[in-house]
Amino acid sequence: MLGIIGGSGLTQLSNLNIERREVMRTPYGEPSGVLLFGSLCSTRVVFLARHGYGHTIPPHRVNYRANLWALKQAGAKEIVSVASVGGIRQDLGPGTLVVPDQIIDYTWGRRNTFFDATDQPVVQVDFTDPYDAALRARILASAWAAGEAIEDGGVYAATQGPRLETAAEIERLARDGADMVGMTGMPEAVLARELGLPYAALSVVSNWAAGRADSSHAIRFADIEETLVGAMARVRRILEHICA
Ligand code: HPA
Repeated sequence: MLGIIGGSGLTQLSNLNIERREVMRTPYGEPSGVLLFGSLCSTRVVFLARHGYGHTIPPHRVNYRANLWALKQAGAKEIVSVASVGGIRQDLGPGTLVVPDQIIDYTWGRRNTFFDATDQPVVQVDFTDPYDAALRARILASAWAAGEAIEDGGVYAATQGPRLETAAEIERLARDGADMVGMTGMPEAVLARELGLPYAALSVVSNWAAGRADSSHAIRFADIEETLVGAMARVRRILEHICA
């Protein structure tokens, strides 16, 4: 079964034939919402809206541990994470879809491990390649099958939020080698790794990161929303082909 975590603009998968809903409890508290079970073509799918179904949970408040734990408990064997990002690299403008291949973590103060006990041997997972190569390839293949353009690879910078970045902060992220910036990529990716769940991300560029647009203007929420509506329709088409 494939787990899908939907982000801003993807609180529902309209093409998911929902067969069952389940409220899950976990040792880490409550996940962001009910799990929806269904299928996309021939693939069994469990879906969870990262920010809740009313989009009320801000990025730094998402219970990432509960979300990943619940998905695993529900039977997910791998996780595709959909999330919006700001574009830093020049070819990653609004509306672009990209499958990142690396992460830099700038978040702080989040519960970022399941291995938190002080009475057990220390566990340090390998995280050299944060995203699962085979699952990345499947997302890319699905996009090609759906006839949707998609970028293969890029460095995802995970920032704390909930505010957007300053122009200088984006300059720094660019110097660090980041191609896109989002607020939810971590600790989600590492928690999946700790649970042994192959994990890959489908990032949707909703805006130019701060200071990256040609004309310097503030990032407008209305523009982000508009971009996301169109882009998420394409994401849904891609996910429909992920069964192949
Ligand atoms: N910065 C951080 N996170 C984001 C952005 C951004 O510009 N756009 C969408 N998520």
